[in-house]
Amino acid sequence: MAAVTPLLSTRGLRRSFGGLKAVDHVDFDLPAGEIRAIIGPNGAGKTTFVSLICGRVLPSSGTVTFDGKDISGLQAHQRVRAGIAYTFQITSVFANLTAFDNVALSVQRRLLDGKDKSGALHDGVMDALQKVGLTGHANAVAGKLAYGHQRLLEVAMGLALKPRLLILDEPTQGLSDGEIANFIALVRDLSKETTILLIEHNMHVVMELAGRITVMEQGRILAEGTPEAIRADADVQRAYLGA
Ligand SMILES: Nc1ncnc2c1ncn2[C@@H]1O[C@H](COP(=O)(O)OP(=O)(O)O)[C@@H](O)[C@H]1O
Ligand SMILES: [Mg+2]
Repeated sequence: MAAVTPLLSTRGLRRSFGGLKAVDHVDFDLPAGEIRAIIGPNGAGKTTFVSLICGRVLPSSGTVTFDGKDISGLQAHQRVRAGIAYTFQITSVFANLTAFDNVALSVQRRLLDGKDKSGALHDGVMDALQKVGLTGHANAVAGKLAYGHQRLLEVAMGLALKPRLLILDEPTQGLSDGEIANFIALVRDLSKETTILLIEHNMHVVMELAGRITVMEQGRILAEGTPEAIRADADVQRAYLGA
């Protein structure tokens, strides 16, 4: 029984802004170990949906279950402690700190939590920066990094927490082709240890990485399936891929 319980589930999850149903009764299951991509047109509710999962936005109704526990009532920082890390579409790095110090905040958080005392701060930071390809920028002030590099820095901050679920909201925006190739390899590597929920517009990245794809449209799940099935789905082509 326990083996089939998804790592993450939502039931009847809803969030309205005024009269707008940004997320409209979403039932969603994510098994542990999967790389799941969420795609859909701008305004489909993707960012709001993952914001509800990590507690940055509160639901109008519905539940979020993580690792078999109802976490709907937990604050965002408590969900981080439970093992949910995320990076958002709008960069939220500390602009005046160096890349090293931004990641150090995450590593410190993990060390203080006492889950993993084996890794020293410096090693933890440099390991995370190396994974995202920013070793050479460790001492750069974060706010002066290129936009795509700030996104990668956020990914480093997220993975430095060693989360059980890593949520990435359009992480490849602003990256070069070479950096995207590096990112694809990184996510594959991370997925050996972490379940990944990836909002992504770049269909090459989606098709390369996703075990399954969830398509959102107007706050609802329009379709869900393997990359092959989604590519072949006429509704999806109409709503999104053909656009
Ligand atoms: N804080 C907010 N206040 C009002 N409307 C919002 C807010 N956040 C999102 N929305 C609206 O909710 C809808 C879904 O937005 P979003 O979740 O950002 O979509 P996506 O990430 O798929 O582009 C959009 O119409 C957006 O304008
Ligand atoms: Mg979004």
